Amino acid sequence: MQKILILDFGGQYNQLIARRVREHHVYCEVLPHDTPLAAIRAFDPIGIIFTGGPSSVYAPGAPSVDPAVFTLGLPILGICYGCQLLAQALGGRVTAAQDDAAREYGKTRTFFDPSCPLFRGLPEESVTWMSHGDYMAAVPVGFRLAARSAACPTVGICDESRGFYGVQFHPEVSHTEYGSRMLRNFLYEICGAVGDWTMADFRRRAVERLRRELAGRRVLLALSGGVDSSVAAALLSEAVGTRLNCVFVDHGLMRLHEGDEIEAAFSARPLRFVRVNAEERFLARLAGVTEPEQKRRIIGEEFIRVFEREAKKLGAVDCLAQGTIYPDVIESGQGEAAVIKSHHNVGGLPEYVDFKEIVEPLRLLFKDEVRALGRDLGLPEALVSRQPFPGPGLGIRVIGEITREKLDMLRQADFIFRDEVAKAGLAQSMSQYFAALTNMRSVGVMGDGRSYDYAVVLRSVQTSDFMTADWTRIPYELLDRVSVRIVNEVRGVNRVFYDITSKPPATVEFE
Ligand code: XMP
Repeated sequence: MQKILILDFGGQYNQLIARRVREHHVYCEVLPHDTPLAAIRAFDPIGIIFTGGPSSVYAPGAPSVDPAVFTLGLPILGICYGCQLLAQALGGRVTAAQDDAAREYGKTRTFFDPSCPLFRGLPEESVTWMSHGDYMAAVPVGFRLAARSAACPTVGICDESRGFYGVQFHPEVSHTEYGSRMLRNFLYEICGAVGDWTMADFRRRAVERLRRELAGRRVLLALSGGVDSSVAAALLSEAVGTRLNCVFVDHGLMRLHEGDEIEAAFSARPLRFVRVNAEERFLARLAGVTEPEQKRRIIGEEFIRVFEREAKKLGAVDCLAQGTIYPDVIESGQGEAAVIKSHHNVGGLPEYVDFKEIVEPLRLLFKDEVRALGRDLGLPEALVSRQPFPGPGLGIRVIGEITREKLDMLRQADFIFRDEVAKAGLAQSMSQYFAALTNMRSVGVMGDGRSYDYAVVLRSVQTSDFMTADWTRIPYELLDRVSVRIVNEVRGVNRVFYDITSKPPATVEFE
């Protein structure tokens, strides 16, 4: 399989570059910029991409690469900081842009020379997305200018003989009109990619490898019904069959029919599936608790206890499987971020169960790829395209104290919202949407009588990474249908709100 190496200089779009490359069916990995030359050789890439980054290449201690990288005979594409590094390392000069001169941020009209292989087949003028305060005052010997903007004459450089290309803008972001075509040109025209990265191939290779590595071993997986653990379960069951034991802890905080759907999707597969109905236990521990972090802690602890008890019943297992995916792997290499909410992931169980190793069969896949693999493995579309659902479930969507009555109200309201979104054909265009039950009651009038009931709040966000999010501009007619149905069909609810707050300052969930 052909590979592209992405050397990471700490830019904010690094994962996006990797996703874009893979969307063109070329496998790639993101490695630190100081990866030793021997490791780069061993990785055996067909080309290298240098990412952007926050530093200035001329600052003391600025991240760099082993200069021998330029002698490997491999094509290199430098993006933003990566472009400046390429220029400086090969004898050019990079300086801070004076005043407004060549400093550019945001959408920028850019002019291209289509005879440069990177820009072949593209219009001579289009919009790119810039974000740089430094610029190349002098390009290295052997390079020519291939793109410019009104403010900056050195937006794109190329040395076709060595296969070195650099752009000041970000081809990976969607605001760069022809960015995807440029990356494609780099991969196919310059690096000679053939497009051999497909999920069907990944599946075949992964199953072969898992069969070999897990021969004769028993594997345990905490199945939450989320996309990652579901796809991991389907893949592992293809590899090790009934030596895979999946434990699904139904904490009673799932959405309407969700537990049964998960059971139906997995009980027919060649694996051992255990569903633990632990609603009573969870609700008993949560009774009277209103503080969000305490709720999360209780749900997390209780989950582990139930899971541990089931794991003990199964006896010793050799391996614990987790649905870790590539963004977690890339991110785990970075510093500790402030804990905003203690995310409880069902995968984080190692110290509690009796096992020897961890297997993470999806650790090199992006979310879109996990979904594509899930489809290839024949999982139901509802599971594969499922929106994210937090581990603590509806426990953090019932604001304040949790009771079964409140959960039932919320389940119905949430079901109506999802049902109407699906009927409107908007499900795929909304990143995450759900209902929550406020702990506010208010006066209403129903029939001829007074009501004093709960308010439901609807939330829907648009985001690509869930770190920041904007609220969805849902059509009023849809909001109206949902609101009318909820107050008519859900007893105990007489008011519906729509949350129009972005993240930050709000978060996606309410607790
Ligand atoms: P917040 O509320 O932090 O949510 O803006 C961002 C994304 O994370 C999901 N989320 C969780 N997922 N366990 C999870 O597995 C959790 O405890 C948890 N809390 C929030 C949330 O649904 C959204 O997609």
